[in-house]
Amino acid sequence: MRLRYKPKKRRIGEICLQNPPVNSLHSELLTGLADGVKTLEKDGCRAFLLSSAIPGIFSAGLNLLEMHNQERQDLLNYWARVQNMFLTLYGTRLISIACITGAAPAGGCLLSTSCDYRLMLDHPKAVIGLSESLVGLPVPDWMRINFCDVVGRRHTDLGLQMGILFPAQEALRIGLVDELASSPEELRQRALQKLEHFLKVPETEDMTVGGAASFWLRHADKAVTTPIRAKITGQLPSWLHGNLYRNGAAVKEIGPDRFNHLFDGLACVHKFNIDGARGQVTYQNRFLESDEYRADMAAGRIEVSTFGTLGRQDLCRSLFGRLMSTFRDLRGRRSATDNCSVNVGYFGTELYAMTETSKIWRLNQEDLGAEKQVDLSKVVAVNQATAHPHVDPDGAVYNVGSSFTGRTPSVNVIQFPASGSPVAETGRVVGTIPHRWPMEPSYFHSFGITENYFVFVQQPLVIQVKKLVTLKLMKRPVTDAITEKAAEGTWIRLVDRRTGELHQTLFKADTFYAFHHVNAYEEDGHVVVDICAQLPGKCSIMDAAAVKHMSSNESSGVDGPMLRFVLPLEPKSDVSPETNLVSLPDETATAYPRPDQSVYCVPRTLNPPEYRTLDLPRINYEYNGHKYRYAYTCRFVRAVGNSERLVKLDVQTGASCCWHDPSWTPSEPVFVRQPGATSEDSGLILASLLHVSEPRRTALVVLNAETMGELARAEVETDAVIAKDFHGLFAVASEAVHRF
Ligand SMILES: [Fe+2]
Repeated sequence: MRLRYKPKKRRIGEICLQNPPVNSLHSELLTGLADGVKTLEKDGCRAFLLSSAIPGIFSAGLNLLEMHNQERQDLLNYWARVQNMFLTLYGTRLISIACITGAAPAGGCLLSTSCDYRLMLDHPKAVIGLSESLVGLPVPDWMRINFCDVVGRRHTDLGLQMGILFPAQEALRIGLVDELASSPEELRQRALQKLEHFLKVPETEDMTVGGAASFWLRHADKAVTTPIRAKITGQLPSWLHGNLYRNGAAVKEIGPDRFNHLFDGLACVHKFNIDGARGQVTYQNRFLESDEYRADMAAGRIEVSTFGTLGRQDLCRSLFGRLMSTFRDLRGRRSATDNCSVNVGYFGTELYAMTETSKIWRLNQEDLGAEKQVDLSKVVAVNQATAHPHVDPDGAVYNVGSSFTGRTPSVNVIQFPASGSPVAETGRVVGTIPHRWPMEPSYFHSFGITENYFVFVQQPLVIQVKKLVTLKLMKRPVTDAITEKAAEGTWIRLVDRRTGELHQTLFKADTFYAFHHVNAYEEDGHVVVDICAQLPGKCSIMDAAAVKHMSSNESSGVDGPMLRFVLPLEPKSDVSPETNLVSLPDETATAYPRPDQSVYCVPRTLNPPEYRTLDLPRINYEYNGHKYRYAYTCRFVRAVGNSERLVKLDVQTGASCCWHDPSWTPSEPVFVRQPGATSEDSGLILASLLHVSEPRRTALVVLNAETMGELARAEVETDAVIAKDFHGLFAVASEAVHRF
């Protein structure tokens, strides 16, 4: 393999594949190709050609000799090199053009579609496509999605099913290549011209939501405590009346200090008050005046240690001081943060800001002031709880949280009955789930609920307790104690809502991580679980949310598909391991019995391939725990994790429609049911928007949930930077029970 640069300015490089006879992608070439891209990046190149030195051949694809009759570990190593090559080529910030001067089947096609632009020689030998099915090999999802990103779904379905190798003219017609050339010389010349054309585009990061610096890093310099009347365009539905509350980490720096992690900033609660009948919207926000906020503000710096940031208290302590502090942690006297920056939710008629510790803050619903701190660990046997509780129609609130107080550490399911007075201070344990690894509890962020079960995912993303208690001595943040055990797979557990007992079947799956459940429901002896998953990437999901990474514009390589798992409630055990235990009609998610009485579940991907990462899911909450059809989510774009559009997904058919405005980045889409509605998607989607280039502008967008068409927008221009929010809810003015 050769690597060269254009002599004059060294801005254009070239990676030329030279592995006779057919440029098959053996290990050395895969590694060399990935290293080549990194070298060009390091050397300050802005663009490169990917070409072949072998006439009539671009690349014949994967090296089958390294895939056939190999030891498992050797095969795993080879496959890791294939994926690493793809992540590097696809994820590079350099502009890349594939010069396809010959056949590009299978992996050769992958190389081409991983580039930004493709030129192909118009010659009978030059063909391109994912032809794996012709030799009986499956095409992995990520390879299929990459292909689909270029040619669309129909050509992907047909092309992969038939293993079609498209001749040049046909490849041009379906958009698999962008241009044809009649000779290698002409192809090269036009490729260089195209690169020059690309290079004339100014090298700015603010041109699109995807290319912009991460909006998650915006620092709110001050609050907007006086409501501002919004400018309305379009028509607000007259029946829309209530408050959209949003919560997020907003204060990212204090004095000379800056928080290191997305989850660390100090909380800011936002409110859009909407009066559709009068056609009025006001906007205001307020920093949550938590103990942590007050301590940091009084010191004029980051005083308190948080998830990924060490506070000055710990940084500046002597070794003895850190030892004593660690001792207090071990005795359970460590004060959990009360910086409730993740979500808001109602307990009865009271609105609370929540995070993932035991502390929640009751809010004044008018001016958003912090009124009372409640420590859930003093109410019920949990040491922390998620910021994603569920609320029953009668107002009973359910949550899950870790407990370290019993004989063995566990996860407790807790209920706050609607009759509690106040609701948030009257909880009880209604179920218990043992940890997979007692000294390494799995991290969890949300859970599912059906008519009869709580659904809990035990992911191999674990908190190493032993390491946790020594972090202060080492002057390291909590994030250092969280690690991925990617080889261990992910478990799904069910807890009976009536008895609190764990379902006898353990459901296992290949490793995925997850923050957000979409929905779960029961159907004909199965529990269907829909989750926004995150697949293991080249950096851990916690590292991907570190400020250092989010500032780098470097892809994490973490894909986030929406997955459906189908869990058979009474699996047969006297059948062969190949027997699919899922018997729902037309369902392609499968489950198989395992000798240890567990069930191995293979999910179905719900999102269309063109939306590689969907998250922050919401549904019509009337359908929470019940069979449903529509999920509303954000589509995130690679690198810095910016939400780029709102997507409505039909989870039954896979059809989707979206709302998109390139000048704005949207929040999580909140569904609001139209009064008297009988169909699931009859209602509105509300989302807050941040302007891409003017950080003091924010807006509320109101969409028709059926079509995702925009009905109205309420925009305000403030004198403060508005930071991005995570989660929230709409409280309908006329309703007594506010759910999600
Ligand atoms: Fe969340």
